[in-house]
This record gives sequence, C-alpha cells and structure tokens, in this order.
Amino acid sequence: MRWRGVIEEFRAFLPVTEQTPVVTLCEGNTPLIQASRLAKRICPHASLYLKVEGANPTGSFKDRGMSLAVSKALEKRARAVLCASTGNTSASAAAYGGRAELPVYVLIPVGNVALGKLAQAMAHGATVIQIEDNFDQALAIGKTVCAEEGFELVNSINPFRLEGQQTAAMEVCDQLGCAPSYHYLPVGNAGNISAYWKGYTAYHAAGQIAHRPKMIGVQAEGAAPIVRGHVVEQPKTIATAIRIGNPASWKLALQAVGESSGDMKMVTDEDILVAYHLLAAEEGVFCEPASAASVAGLTMCSQAGLVPEGATVVCTLTGHGLKDPDTAVSTSPKARTVKATRDDVLAALRA
Ligand code: F0G
Repeated sequence: MRWRGVIEEFRAFLPVTEQTPVVTLCEGNTPLIQASRLAKRICPHASLYLKVEGANPTGSFKDRGMSLAVSKALEKRARAVLCASTGNTSASAAAYGGRAELPVYVLIPVGNVALGKLAQAMAHGATVIQIEDNFDQALAIGKTVCAEEGFELVNSINPFRLEGQQTAAMEVCDQLGCAPSYHYLPVGNAGNISAYWKGYTAYHAAGQIAHRPKMIGVQAEGAAPIVRGHVVEQPKTIATAIRIGNPASWKLALQAVGESSGDMKMVTDEDILVAYHLLAAEEGVFCEPASAASVAGLTMCSQAGLVPEGATVVCTLTGHGLKDPDTAVSTSPKARTVKATRDDVLAALRA
C-alpha cells in the first residue's frame, strides 16, 4: 500500500484527531541500510545499520516533526509559522508551510547555513532573514517575535515537532524487528535524541519492543555544551547544522541518555570528515557533515572498547549530503579538466 506519511502511519501514537488537517509530503519510511563494509572497519564485532533520514522529502529528518507541527498550526488557525534554524528546519518549514498556504519566516545565522538549505528555503517561498549572530541568538529572537506577533514557532521546542520525530525510532524497530542495542545520533539543539527516546519508550510501553536501546548523543567538539556541562558562547564546527551552544532540549537529552544508560560524546571536525568520506565512498551513502558525527562517535566508542560483541548499532544520518555541496567539493580530491581527446583522457586516468 502507498506510504501516507508519518501522521497517518503512526496516528495511534500521535496527538491528532479527525479534525486535524494533515499536511504531509509522505515523509518517513526512510531506508535502514546495513553497513557491513563500514562495520568491518570501525566496529567489526557488531552489526551496523544506517537510518538514512536524508531520504525524506526535503532531505532531512525535520520533515517528520514539521508535518505534525504545521498540521497543528493549521488546526489552531495560526497566522504564520516561524523558525530559527541552522538550515534544515528552515528548509522543511518552508516546504510544509508553503504547502499549507501559511506564510513562513525563517531566521538563520548569516554565513553559516549550507548552500542547499538556503536554496530550499528561498525556493519554497519563505521570507529568509539572516541574523548577524549565531543560531542561539536567532532562536531567542524568534521566541520573542512569535509571542508578540502570534506566529507559531516551529522549532523543536514546539512539542509537536518531537511528537512527529519520534516516529523514526518506531520505524527502526519495525524495520529491524526489534530495538537495536545502541542508537547513535548527532546532537545540536538536542530535540532529535529526545524524540527518539520518546519513540522507543512509547513503543516499549505498547509492547512493540522488549527493550529500549542505549542512546548515544554525539556533539562536535567546538559546539559541545552538553558534554562540557556549560553553554558555549561562540560555537564552532564544520558541521554547521549542529553549530549550537545552548541547546533548547538540553534537559530532555540528558534524560534520554540517563534513563537509557547511554552517553553524550564529542568528536573533532577531523573525525567527522573522516566518517563523512567513509560513508560516501565505502557505503554509497552521502550525508551532510553533521550527520556523520554519529558514525564518528561510534568509531570513537568502538576504539575505546565500548561496543560489546554482537551488539546491534543504528546510526542516524540526519541530512542529505547534497545539502552542503561546498563541503563535499572543498574536502574531496579535485576534479581534473583535460582536452577532449582519447589520449588526454587516458593519460588522466593513468596519472
Ligand atoms: N543533523 C542535522 C542535519 C541537523 O540539521 C540537526 C539540527 C541535527 C543533526 C541536530 O538535531 O537539533 O534535534 O539535536 N538542525 C536544526 C536546524 C538545529 O535548524 O535545522 P537536534
């Protein structure tokens, strides 16, 4: 049967009624790909799966929560939706808000949003406002503006976002036939790890799974407030999606990690780029840099002996590699240009 998007497919677990208008782009149902080659290299005694969230309609996991958040905004007759974003939330809000005929306003940190994401927000017709500061400031301003203007804030502090995003955890269980032993996720504003934990917990309570996984969150070293235990005023990382110094769902993320006996780790930008290129070159899975933090975190934990033999590990790859073409091009070997002759091409192939 045709996949109808997360609201219809997981209706029993979501706060919707017959009166809720369903705004969907048929998000969800993303691939869970076994990564045997990568496993052999980074965690040889475990089974590794990649939840490829870049396969969602706008290219990131945000679509799951945005379907619900925009549907609920429409139900309560909001005048407009607004978000602060490192890029993916704005792309998703622009697409779903546009589809729902709602005006969409997005606040993004100038110069720190990957090109593909900016292009999406603009193409979908959102009003894009670049803030001369970072994401944390944009979110603070966004909250104030929404309260004053009566707009619906569709950042993950909107509870419907997490409700929608929890469906990813349920899908993993449906696809695996059980819950994994470990689930690794990149952490920025900390909504997604909280949503997965909510999803696993709801599935466990409903008797769909026998146990819940240990949740391992992974931050970038230059933007690791949760690992360090304090706000980072000037977050820095090549993984612009998770360049966040004061995560809104900090407490919920700590709860997910604590209740699951998991952990919160940090990795360097170099580790992130190694994982990013391995995923693309050896598994055929092109994700954006922030997404590769999950695999970089797994590599680190495995080297430290923290992945037991026989474990089933899922890494969520949160966004598509095409979101950030600049990083792909600038960190890969250069393409060569030659004369259009057989000899020149052969010479180049053999060089
Ligand atoms: N990966 C990607 C690709 C993201 O875009 C984000 C967050 C995360 C991971 C982290 O998820 O915030 O729930 O911990 N992006 C937000 C945005 C902040 O505005 O698009 P989180």
